[in-house]
Amino acid sequence: MRRLLHPSEMVEYCYGSFRSGSLVGLVPTMGALHGGHQALVARAKDECDLVVTSIFVNPLQFNDPADLEKYPRSLQDDLEALEALAVDAVFTPEPDEMHPEPRVFSVALVGWQTEMESTSRPGHFSGVATVVMKLLAMLGPGRAYFGEKDFEQLAVVKRMVEEFHLPASVVSCPTVRDPGGLALSSRNRRLSAAGVERARSLYSVLTKASLDLQAGRSVQESVATARLSLEERGIDVEYLVVADPPLLRRVEAVSKLSRVFVAARVEGVRLIDNVAVGDGKP
Ligand code: PAF
Repeated sequence: MRRLLHPSEMVEYCYGSFRSGSLVGLVPTMGALHGGHQALVARAKDECDLVVTSIFVNPLQFNDPADLEKYPRSLQDDLEALEALAVDAVFTPEPDEMHPEPRVFSVALVGWQTEMESTSRPGHFSGVATVVMKLLAMLGPGRAYFGEKDFEQLAVVKRMVEEFHLPASVVSCPTVRDPGGLALSSRNRRLSAAGVERARSLYSVLTKASLDLQAGRSVQESVATARLSLEERGIDVEYLVVADPPLLRRVEAVSKLSRVFVAARVEGVRLIDNVAVGDGKP
């Protein structure tokens, strides 16, 4: 596995591979790798000639400095895991190389108006879009793999690629869950065993809401019931919203595309999840 440290090495690797006829798959991560990342790598390996994983805890996307501080880091374990997965290259830039100072540019979202992450975490998607724009610029005409757990991030990235006419293709991959339904996330490492058990109800409650919506119950009622069920389990709900791709505007009547989204805190750890309304089907 090649270790790429500097953006110029990443550009040379990706464009050199493209020129010699190889399709490159990029799996962008912030490290603390888990089964969700492994699934992205496996999919990229299936579909591409070469797979590069980036590990970079992007300071621009943390609106809360304490959250950045607490973000789990496990570079050595991550490198071993990627080696075992036979990833071809790993890109691990330093912050001052990824975002050289003084910074003059960033990607601004001028028309993204959801009532979810973009409202709850001001500036978050500008930070994500800026780093992903840089990664996709280095990748060029390859494929980039993103998980549906961060569905709003995926929607923002898809729209950015479309609007800026970037040559990369975005591949969306289903959320990977533990046997109890908890969406795998690097943040789960901060939960106790009891916290994991409690956090599992996010998925069961979302699934129930999705079944209610399919059965014709109103959005307002389904969302209110779901919120109450979570609160009764001691989960602090930040938002619980039904919204439609591609722009994820909130809806009051479901369509075939609708999804139910939640952000909530368990033991102080902020978790997000979502399910398609059709996913609740037994
Ligand atoms: O999903 C993540 O881990 C990050 O937001 C990403 C896409 C790697 C950008 O920093």
